[in-house]
Amino acid sequence: MIYVKEAFDTNWVAPLGKNVDMLEKEVASYVNRKHAAALISGTAAIHLGLKWLGIKEGDFVFCSSLTFSGSCNSIMYEKAIPIFIDSEYQSWNMDVKALEKAFNWAKKQNKMPKAVITVNLYGQSCDYDRIKAVCDKYDAPILEDAAESLGSKYKGIHTGTFGELSALSFNGNKIITTSGGGMLLSDDEKAIKKVKFWATQARDNYPYYHHTELGYNYRLSNVSAGIGRGQLTVLDERVKQKKAIYHRYKEAFADIDDIEMMPVPEWSAPNYWLTTLTLKETSKVKPMDIIDNLAENNVEARPIWKPMHTQPYYEKYPFFTTKESGSVAEDIFNRGLCLPSDTKMTTEEQDYVIGLVKELF
Ligand SMILES: Cc1ncc(COP(=O)(O)O)c(C=O)c1O
Repeated sequence: MIYVKEAFDTNWVAPLGKNVDMLEKEVASYVNRKHAAALISGTAAIHLGLKWLGIKEGDFVFCSSLTFSGSCNSIMYEKAIPIFIDSEYQSWNMDVKALEKAFNWAKKQNKMPKAVITVNLYGQSCDYDRIKAVCDKYDAPILEDAAESLGSKYKGIHTGTFGELSALSFNGNKIITTSGGGMLLSDDEKAIKKVKFWATQARDNYPYYHHTELGYNYRLSNVSAGIGRGQLTVLDERVKQKKAIYHRYKEAFADIDDIEMMPVPEWSAPNYWLTTLTLKETSKVKPMDIIDNLAENNVEARPIWKPMHTQPYYEKYPFFTTKESGSVAEDIFNRGLCLPSDTKMTTEEQDYVIGLVKELF
């Protein structure tokens, strides 16, 4: 609250001011990145990240399929072509073998992707050593979609540091929020400077408004940034609470053979943004049975993100998997769900959810 109050007291309620500058510094320092641009959304961060990477009409951009549309909509804003990549069961994130397959295909087309958008799903990082090795081999830059993974680590290193550019979201449902907002992180000062320029309507340095490029109204407001600064002080505590929520569910469901929690590989220290699970193929209880039973009792649970390559809007674009039939992403979507994971949830409320799930088995 103090940061928001200060914004009003000093009349800095515009998309610039101390809170914006400080939020950029504080988040960059938290994840260990050199530069940051505070923007109105994670989607805006991905959009300007793609622009910085020079994405133009007709270019290929690889993107994880099992994700929210915010990961790939920006590819369409630039009239580029999304190529979707399947997930691996180990982490639910981009499958390196499917990625390699897509690179081989692109090579045959004589048209390599201009960027690879990796997604750290539900707060779990990708296996970056393996993904980076493949992207480096083909000289393709990574744009890391870390919208859901602020506070997560891969082999002890914060996510948000694995892309040439990395995007965060501070949307209302994320681990910390500015009510709505996002950030683009990079170690490249020039990239962030240019992104800030585009995000403030591409205003050239003239006494009057002068434009040599197309601009966007994408800067975060100083008031929103104030909310973000306050939220950042409780981020580590939130990660601890989210982890405790996940482990309480895990323990409670340990005796139900049909329930498998989202796996956590040894290299991953997630922020446990949402507790997610899958039901065994043979389970008589299906995800919608659980979601419906919770809804009937006034509790909201959600399906897993519906894979992008199966969305009516995106299904005409290429998709790469190593599965003989179907895909890992579809399988996880068909068998999975997200449980209530809000840090404001009391242990009694969590027990209530657990009871409603258990009574179905
Ligand atoms: C994986 C992923 N990518 C991108 C976004 C887009 O972020 P925003 O809603 O801030 O635009 C979100 C969240 O909303 C997300 O979950």
